[in-house]
Amino acid sequence: MDVAHLSFREKTNLGSFYTPSRLVGLAYDLFARVSGAVDVVLDSSCGYGAFFSVPFPQKNVRFIGADIDEVALNVATENFSRVHFLHENALKNINREKYGIFSHERLVIVGNPPYNDVTSRVKNHIKRENPCEMDSDVRTRDLGISFLLSFEKLSPEYVVVLHPLSYLIKQANFKLLEPFMRKYALREALVLNSREFSDTSKNNGFPIVVAVYERNTFGTTYTDIVRRRFMTLEGVSFSISDYDYVCRYISKYPSRFQRNTGISRYKFFTMRDVNALKRSRTFISDDTANTIYIPTEKLELYCYVDIFKDYSQKLPYFLGNFDVMINRDEFEKIKNDFLVLSIEKHPEIFSEEFLPVPKDVSNRAFRRVDFYFKNLFKGVA
Ligand SMILES: C[S@@+](CC[C@H](N)C(=O)[O-])C[C@H]1O[C@@H](n2cnc3c(N)ncnc32)[C@H](O)[C@@H]1O
Repeated sequence: MDVAHLSFREKTNLGSFYTPSRLVGLAYDLFARVSGAVDVVLDSSCGYGAFFSVPFPQKNVRFIGADIDEVALNVATENFSRVHFLHENALKNINREKYGIFSHERLVIVGNPPYNDVTSRVKNHIKRENPCEMDSDVRTRDLGISFLLSFEKLSPEYVVVLHPLSYLIKQANFKLLEPFMRKYALREALVLNSREFSDTSKNNGFPIVVAVYERNTFGTTYTDIVRRRFMTLEGVSFSISDYDYVCRYISKYPSRFQRNTGISRYKFFTMRDVNALKRSRTFISDDTANTIYIPTEKLELYCYVDIFKDYSQKLPYFLGNFDVMINRDEFEKIKNDFLVLSIEKHPEIFSEEFLPVPKDVSNRAFRRVDFYFKNLFKGVA
């Protein structure tokens, strides 16, 4: 059921995008593959109760639902009589007692906690800096990361949740999740497009993972994530370790010590992931806090990123959080082609040093570059 009682601004701040039952069913199928018996099922951000609308794969369990949004809870209470509902802030005073869960009970936490990165620029104009009160040990810039940290404090046997894939892939996020990841092993993971939710990200889908975590002594390390082969709902598999990345050879951000000494003629805008690159500028002429000064010997690598941006529109949603990929050996063979295409694309930047490129030269460069990208993304794009 779609959220009916909140404005767009409220929905964004509470992260209230409810889960279609099809996806809940999928999460429970994954859980059924790995699960041992549990006593209690808790969704601490249950909204209208989507996770109670699909049969849970075990019998004789207690169901508990909580949410900070009282109106949503009223709807849930009317719909699911076998569930015990509580009006609670899941991120404040985090302990089992407040949900009435005993310490000996085997708990599974299910759900689709809100994701809302207060520092990201998407929908920035309507986001509150502090969407709700939270305990200091789970406070982070992203509500969803705080939620995962809050789960660890309740010591569940299993955690069955949907969350952005970027929590795993981006090392800065993974680091924030360390207290959780140290204790929980990622047992099952299925990646899907955020567009599977009815009204989020109509234009730019981002990857979400349906994840089953199990408490054990190994936990999940970032190396596990790098080596892991992820499957998508569409049946494609991919891995971080399938690629080499351009950020191994050039800087993504301005260095704190860099100064434009007048030697570097070319400037580039800060790079983040593939999805960010789709929207951001590449070669620029102004000096700002986001300006990277390009060393002459690296110019072709930055041209590569500039041309990669054009191709990135064709990449599937599940590669959106990746850094810019490269095949360094193949790149070396045709690096001049990237320069040619950037010269053609940005005459205002390059005209001082380079003559305009004849059309047949740029056509040939384009064909070789196109062939390069098709090979690089063989099997996924
Ligand atoms: C993405 S929705 C998911 C709802 C439900 N689990 C589902 O899958 O349909 C996130 C929910 O988190 C709730 N929420 C946001 N902050 C919360 C908090 N601090 N404590 C409890 N619930 C919260 C919102 O009200 C919203 O209902």
